[in-house]
Amino acid sequence: MNISILGIPMDLGAGRRGVDMGASALRNAHLAAHLRRLGHTVTDLGDIPVPIPETVDKHLTGGLVFLEQIQHTSQVTTQRVAALGADVFPITLGGDHSISMGTVTGNALRGQPEGVRTGVIWVDAHSDYNTPQSSPSGNIHGMPVAHLTGLGDPVLSNLGGLWQLRAEDIVMIGIRSVDSLERELLREAGIKAYTMKDVDQLGMTRIHAETMERLSAVERIHVSFDADALDPSVAPGVGTPVPGGLTYREGHLLMELLCESGRVTSMDIVEVNPVLDTHNQTAEVMVGMAASLLGQRIL
Ligand code: ARG
Ligand code: MN
Ligand code: MN
Ligand code: MN
Repeated sequence: MNISILGIPMDLGAGRRGVDMGASALRNAHLAAHLRRLGHTVTDLGDIPVPIPETVDKHLTGGLVFLEQIQHTSQVTTQRVAALGADVFPITLGGDHSISMGTVTGNALRGQPEGVRTGVIWVDAHSDYNTPQSSPSGNIHGMPVAHLTGLGDPVLSNLGGLWQLRAEDIVMIGIRSVDSLERELLREAGIKAYTMKDVDQLGMTRIHAETMERLSAVERIHVSFDADALDPSVAPGVGTPVPGGLTYREGHLLMELLCESGRVTSMDIVEVNPVLDTHNQTAEVMVGMAASLLGQRIL
């Protein structure tokens, strides 16, 4: 497979500093080398430039922090990812989860300007379905899925022109932190979310099978993996840790099963925060997750 790595060191969407170093930490954990060992051709395209928070005046625009900068970076991200060929497997490195408005849109537009029906598997402790009105924090990393389905800020919710992500084409896995108004919005949109209770009760094998069934009509599948989906004991280097997350093996099993499905066409790795990490453990764990998605097997 032809894999392109693109960093988006975005640290404007989160409430705590440090995720801009996530892309660097993942490279330091030998992401490209691990994927090459699996037989892939890997090109690192470097980073998209993103302003650092200290150089930008922090203010709220209609309930959103750093709106203008995130709008601009999301447009650039959409264009850069869309310009990659339809046959490339992009791995986009955050940065905080606000990058996924641009990465998901760009991936849907790759090689086809009007866009392709794309499913999203959102692996996360959080549902990231706040709108500017429902958000308790104003942090845009809690809002990307809502914007991808057309809610919220008009610029962020129209990155793809006529293309838009359909709520029925989203599956969330690992969810255990949802704000109260956000819960209503999720229910209204009818988004399928496997909470940690579902993971405990059904197991990852069944969740994977149901996810594939649900996404059977989409042409492409994008996996957006927020490191905080994993339990904080496995992935401590995240800004918004929530107890009771996916185990190391649950994460790998999901990636292994998705790999076997042969249907995943792109991936994000987001929210790795080296400032809060111990010895780059979280970046190393996430490189392992990417390797499992891209063919690493025990035997
Ligand atoms: N729900 C909270 C908020 O909207 C936390 C979101 C955390 N999102 C993330 N990508 N880590 O502010
Ligand atoms: Mn290594
Ligand atoms: Mn997230
Ligand atoms: Mn999260």
